[in-house]
Amino acid sequence: METTLHKVRRAILAGTSYELDEPVFTPKLDVSHEVLLYVEGLNVSFDGFQALNDLNLYINDGELRCLIGANGAGKTTLMDCITGKTMPDSGDIYFGQTLDLVGRSEAEIARLGIGRKFQKPTVFEAHTVFYNLELALKSDKAVWPALRLQLSGEQRDRIEEVLSIIGLTANANMLAGSLSHGQKQWLEIGMLLVASPRLLLVDEPVAGMTAQETERTAELLTSLAGDHTVVVVEHDMEFVRSIARTVTVLHQGSVLAEGSMDAVQNNADVRKVYLGEEAA
Ligand SMILES: Nc1ncnc2c1ncn2[C@@H]1O[C@H](COP(=O)(O)OP(=O)(O)O)[C@@H](O)[C@H]1O
Ligand SMILES: [Mg+2]
Repeated sequence: METTLHKVRRAILAGTSYELDEPVFTPKLDVSHEVLLYVEGLNVSFDGFQALNDLNLYINDGELRCLIGANGAGKTTLMDCITGKTMPDSGDIYFGQTLDLVGRSEAEIARLGIGRKFQKPTVFEAHTVFYNLELALKSDKAVWPALRLQLSGEQRDRIEEVLSIIGLTANANMLAGSLSHGQKQWLEIGMLLVASPRLLLVDEPVAGMTAQETERTAELLTSLAGDHTVVVVEHDMEFVRSIARTVTVLHQGSVLAEGSMDAVQNNADVRKVYLGEEAA
């Protein structure tokens, strides 16, 4: 059988055009490493201002990665590029080994299994916790194609499972509007989880949370890693220390340092440009 790669190679050799009906394997990727998200040489400029500057980032499958960096470092712009909201000027973004994300729509990227949680919770306050999850699940046609009025047993099971993961089983029949701020954030994470995303991008999950909620969120995100790959943007250093195995520091649109929290905090460049600001 002729693979897509064969087809492309034949067309290139013959100098003819070709159309892809499936993504083509990119030999740029090292398949011996289990990289799920591959960002290389990413550049984005806004009216001449370089928001991302030749940025490289590699996230392994199942990893929990924290992204830190001062305001304006490019964290949100990076998330915007990964999720198809912003088109980079140049550079590669691959999801897994075969899926080139650049040029795809936000909806398409979401369907491929990338969920994004924005900072502000956007749950439906006038509906119950359960119904919020039901709505999220029904709107996800990639995983649950038949939009039926009645939930299937399988769908109900998935909602129950997610309720348990986010710790809101006992709150299932409460109105979402009556939840605490922290619980609303967990519900919103749950609304992404019903679709079983492979990659979860989470922007400042613990902003405004109590100490106890922050601790619970650390447990939740840690428990999601493995089954999912989780990238967290966060300013709360204690929180980052409590969850991160690897921390990536962005500065002026590039990666300034990467490693364990200790390694990063002791990095001279980081101390100068980022942590120095806190000390000042
Ligand atoms: N749509 C835009 N138009 C112009 N400048 C932008 C836009 N989005 C972001 N920027 C600029 O790009 C830089 C990086 O922003 P951002 O990615 O939001 O940083 P962070 O999330 O790390 O705080 C900032 O200087 C910001 O002002
Ligand atoms: Mg931001």
